[in-house]
Amino acid sequence: MTTTATEHLLTAEGITVRFGGLTALDGVGLRVRPDGVTGLIGPNGAGKTTLFNVLSGILRPSAGTLTWKGGPPPGRRPHHLARAGIARTFQGLHLFPLMTVLDNVVAGADRLARGGPLSLVTGLGRHHRDERELRARALAALERFGVADTAHRLPGTLPYGVQKQVALARACVCDPELLLLDEPAGGLSGGQVDELAAQIRSLARDTAVVLVEHHMDLVMRVCDHIVVLDFGRVISAGTPDEVRADPAVTRAYLGTAGEGDAR
Ligand SMILES: Nc1ncnc2c1ncn2[C@@H]1O[C@H](COP(=O)(O)OP(=O)(O)OP(=O)(O)O)[C@@H](O)[C@H]1O
Ligand SMILES: [Mg+2]
Repeated sequence: MTTTATEHLLTAEGITVRFGGLTALDGVGLRVRPDGVTGLIGPNGAGKTTLFNVLSGILRPSAGTLTWKGGPPPGRRPHHLARAGIARTFQGLHLFPLMTVLDNVVAGADRLARGGPLSLVTGLGRHHRDERELRARALAALERFGVADTAHRLPGTLPYGVQKQVALARACVCDPELLLLDEPAGGLSGGQVDELAAQIRSLARDTAVVLVEHHMDLVMRVCDHIVVLDFGRVISAGTPDEVRADPAVTRAYLGTAGEGDAR
């Protein structure tokens, strides 16, 4: 079945990013359909996180265009993205260490609130009712990921796998239309990865997911479509079976996958 451009939620074309003399992305294209899971894989340094930073507006590309729902991309500030329906997690955790788990997730929801991000700190421009709604929403997100009992703890006191769930809850608290996950399986045990696979498939029922991962077993299990980057270029794209059978991928990535990450 052919899919036209307007059926894509997010389209990136000719994305080029240079850091000084290094070309981190070189004319990369990516099309994200409104449903399902798109995998973005490639060896260390291939440009995956850089592409996420472009897709989520953190980084302005040297060249190329982004299209969100057939029009221009939303503004570059986190609350612009949140309101447009785009959320992400970061490689690593990026939780605020001095805020409770609940406040970390409220910070994700706060981007939708009228008061804007600073109101969380200042308390200005926000009604008590809004505050209650945000906290209820954040708690519901923590419940969805099975970690509501940690709501009043500081993230650093929790096991890494639990913190990863908190980061997922924060990204999902606004019910995004597009969720960008940067190495969500990093540091998880086998059983936790199985749970994560089920969560990603469940999220993908209502949300388009783009998944950056080195964990090949997870990628092959949950992705509908995979794009492979190497040295900032797309070297292969297709279904998991197509990508797995592509010798260019074997050469560039699977043959050199981090030994500890490969399964
Ligand atoms: N802010 C930056 N300044 C300079 N170079 C950068 C910057 N960010 C990334 N790079 C370089 O750009 C290239 C792509 O990096 P990127 O982090 O996107 O790779 P990646 O595919 O996410 O790798 P990994 O799997 O290790 O996370 C690398 O060579 C990296 O060193
Ligand atoms: Mg990365």
